Amino acid sequence: MPKPDAQDSRLVRWFKERVPLQIEVFEQLAKEPIPNHMKRWWYALGGTPLVLFGILLATGICLTFYYIPEPGKAYQSVQYLTEQVYFGWYLRSMHRWAANLMVVAVILHLFRVFFTGAYRRPRELNWMIGCGLLFTVLGFGFTGYALVFDQLSYWAAQVGTGLAAKTPLVGGFFQRFMLGGEVVGENTLSRFFVFHIGVWPTVLTALLGAHIFLFRGLGIADIGAKQLSAAEARDHAGMLKSGRYFPFFPNHAMTEIVIALAILIVLTQLSIVWPASLVPPADPLNTPAHIQPEWYFFFQFQLLKLFPEKLALGLQLVMVLILVFWPFIDRALLQRWNNPWISPAFGLAGLAVFLGLTLNEAFHGYVLFDDWYQRLLAGR
Ligand code: HEM
Repeated sequence: MPKPDAQDSRLVRWFKERVPLQIEVFEQLAKEPIPNHMKRWWYALGGTPLVLFGILLATGICLTFYYIPEPGKAYQSVQYLTEQVYFGWYLRSMHRWAANLMVVAVILHLFRVFFTGAYRRPRELNWMIGCGLLFTVLGFGFTGYALVFDQLSYWAAQVGTGLAAKTPLVGGFFQRFMLGGEVVGENTLSRFFVFHIGVWPTVLTALLGAHIFLFRGLGIADIGAKQLSAAEARDHAGMLKSGRYFPFFPNHAMTEIVIALAILIVLTQLSIVWPASLVPPADPLNTPAHIQPEWYFFFQFQLLKLFPEKLALGLQLVMVLILVFWPFIDRALLQRWNNPWISPAFGLAGLAVFLGLTLNEAFHGYVLFDDWYQRLLAGR
C-alpha cells in the first residue's frame, strides 16, 4: 500500500489511502527510454491507429444510439442520422473516414516495422500479434460496411460471405455462421452488428493490450544499433545519459499528441469535403452492375478476377501464412544466403503487388491483360 507523503494535498492523501497504486511504477513507465529515431513521425506510426481506434470508439458509440440492426429499418436509421440528427452527418463521416485511415495507418505501420527489420528476434511474437490486429481491423471494415444496408453494402456482404464459403473445410460453416441462414437477411445483420460493436472491439482491445505489453517490455527496437544486454536494457538512467535515447514523457507523448490533433483536423476536413453518402437501399432482387468491396479488399477481388477461384483462394492463404510467419522465414533466408537485401526485396515485391492490384481495381475495375491471361489459361 503506497504511503501518503507529508507534502501531499488532502485530496492526494485521500486517494493514496484508498487506491493501492504504486506511483513509482507509473513514473518509471513515463520515463521509459525511446531510441532517437522515434522522433521522426514515420517511425512513430503505431500511435496513429491507436488514436484512430479512440476516435472510432467515440463516434461508433454515438452512431449506435441511432442505428437499428433490422433489414427494414437499418437503412432508414442511417438516413435519419445523416439527414435529420444534428451533426449526425459529421459523426458518420468521421467514423467512416477514421475507419479508412485506420487501415492505411496499420498498413503503413506494418511496412515501417518490416523495412526497419523491427520484427526480428525477440519481437517475432509481437509481429504475429500485429498480424492479428490487421485481420481484426479488416473484420471491422467488412462487418461495418454491411450495416448500412444499401445496395453496395448488401451485395458486398453477399459476395464476401459467398467467397469465404469456398475456403476448404471451414468455409461452409463460416458462411452459415455469418449469414445465420442461406442469404443475407435479418440474422446476418444482427450477427454483423454483434461482431462490429462487440466481438471485434473486444478482440482488438485484447490484442492491443498484448502488443503494448510486449513493445513496452522489450523496448522499441534500436534500429542500426547492437542489441542491448538484459542488464543494459534495465538501466534506464544509463540509457538516457548515453544521448541515444529520450524519455517517453513528455517528449514522445507530445509527438503523439501533435499527431492526434493533426488526425482530428484531417478527418474533419475530409468529412466536410467528402461526407459519407448513401446509395439506394438494399434490393435482394436487383443485382447492381458493379459490385465492389471496400478498397482494402480490392487486392483479393483482383486476385479472384485474375486466377481461377481455387487458385486465388490458395494464393491468399499462402500470402497470409507468409505474412504471419515472416520473422521465421526471414531468419531462414538470412541463414541460407546471408544477404541483407533479400528481405527488403521481398517487401518491395509484396508492396508492388498490393499497390498494383489495388490501383488497378480502383482505376479500371477490370484486369489489365485479362484477354491475354484467358488465352494463356486456354493454352492459346
Ligand atoms: C491496431 C493496429 C496497431 C496498433 C494500434 C499498433 C501500435 C503500435 C505502437 C504504438 C508501437 C510502438 C512503436 C511505433 O509507434 O511504431 C508498435 C510497435 C510494433 N508493432 Fe504495432 N500496432 C498495430 C498493428 C501492427 C501490425 C499490423 C504489425 C505487423 C504485422 C505490428 C507490429 C509491430 C512490431 C513488431 C512492433 C515493435 C517495433 C519496434 O520495436 O520498433 N503492429 N505498434
